[in-house]
Formats: sequence, structure tokens, C-alpha cells
Amino acid sequence: MKNLVVFASGSGSNMEVLARYFADSLLATVSAVVCNKPGAGVIERAGKLGIPVVMVNRQQLYVDSKLPEILHPLRPDLIILAGFLWLIPENVIKDYSGRIINIHPALLPSYGGKGMFGMNVHKAVIEAGEQYSGISIHQVNEHYDEGELLFQQALRLHPGETPESLAERIHELEHYYFPRVVEAFLNGKRLSPTPAK
Ligand code: GAR
Repeated sequence: MKNLVVFASGSGSNMEVLARYFADSLLATVSAVVCNKPGAGVIERAGKLGIPVVMVNRQQLYVDSKLPEILHPLRPDLIILAGFLWLIPENVIKDYSGRIINIHPALLPSYGGKGMFGMNVHKAVIEAGEQYSGISIHQVNEHYDEGELLFQQALRLHPGETPESLAERIHELEHYYFPRVVEAFLNGKRLSPTPAK
């Protein structure tokens, strides 16, 4: 059984979808959540699912380099960033090379990088008059949103699309594909995208 450790600091809807998807699986389980934001919705969701939450702060990550020590007892086979907005320190990227993945709510390499998260992304996509957006799931390296792409799924923007409606449609795509992409990745496979709707 593989341990999935989910890093999240938002509402935690993707963490919950992953936890529920793998709840009856013999392949993997969401064994812990790492969170940097006191009061984040993900903490309550994890509590309801009986998943332990480890809180981390900037001092531990970037000054004292404590993240490897914090992660060691959690024994992660795969680290999954699901709405975690801080850069993963280089020592952790090295320790877990090829075993850290992130989900991003746009079609990378467009609309990625520092500050590009959540509604900021959807507002930028709509302001630019794009016809498509989508989701990207990729390996994590020491730069924001630049690791090797594992999967992308596009959607076509509707007439009159707003950042809010786009956010909802993107979340739907994420909730469907993220667990399936993780499952395929754990099995050494890749999932194929479907035509944009
Ligand atoms: C997701 O939409 C994810 O793609 C995004 O944060 C949201 C978290 O939602 N991540 C980024 O923007 C990373 N740059 P959730 O807390 O409901 O899972």
C-alpha cells in the first residue's frame, strides 16, 4: 500500500476527492495532510475523514530546513500538491525526486508561475480572451509550475464565462481526473486526455 501525503492549504476539495477515491483501494491511501495555513478548510475536511494533519510554517521550511525531518515519519511514496502555494524546498525535491506532483488550474506553461493560483488564474485567462483553459498535472521541480507534464485536459470557455463559473468547471475537471491520473502514475502509466468540451 502506497502512502500518499497531500500538501494543501485551501478548501481541500481535491484532497477529499483523492482520499475518497483511494479509500477502498489496495493500491494507495491518503495517509496524511501537510498544511501551512491555520484555519484552512482542508484541516476540517481531513479531520472528518480521520486523516492526520501536520501543520508547517515558513521558518521550518525555509530557515531551519526541517521538512525532510517532518516528512520522514510519514513515509510518503508520493507527495501530492493539491492547492499548496509555497515552493517545495530543494532538499525535499532531491529526497523525493520524481515522486512529487502538483495540480494547476490552467494549461501550463501558460498562466503558471509565482502568484498564479486559484481565481488569479481564472481572471487572467478570461481577461486575455482565451478560448480554452483546463488543468495540468505535472512533476514538481524547484521552479513554480515547471516540472514535466503528466496530463492536461482542456475545456472550451462558454460565452459569458466568468472567473467564478470557470473556477467551478475547472474544479469539476480536477475532481474527475486527479485521482485517476494519480492512480495511473502509481501504476507506471499515463492517462490520455479527451477532446475539450
Ligand atoms: C485547485 O484548483 C488547484 O488547481 C489550485 O488550487 C485549487 C485548490 O482547490 N492550485 C493552484 O492554483 C496551484 N498554483 P481545493 O483546495 O478545493 O482542492
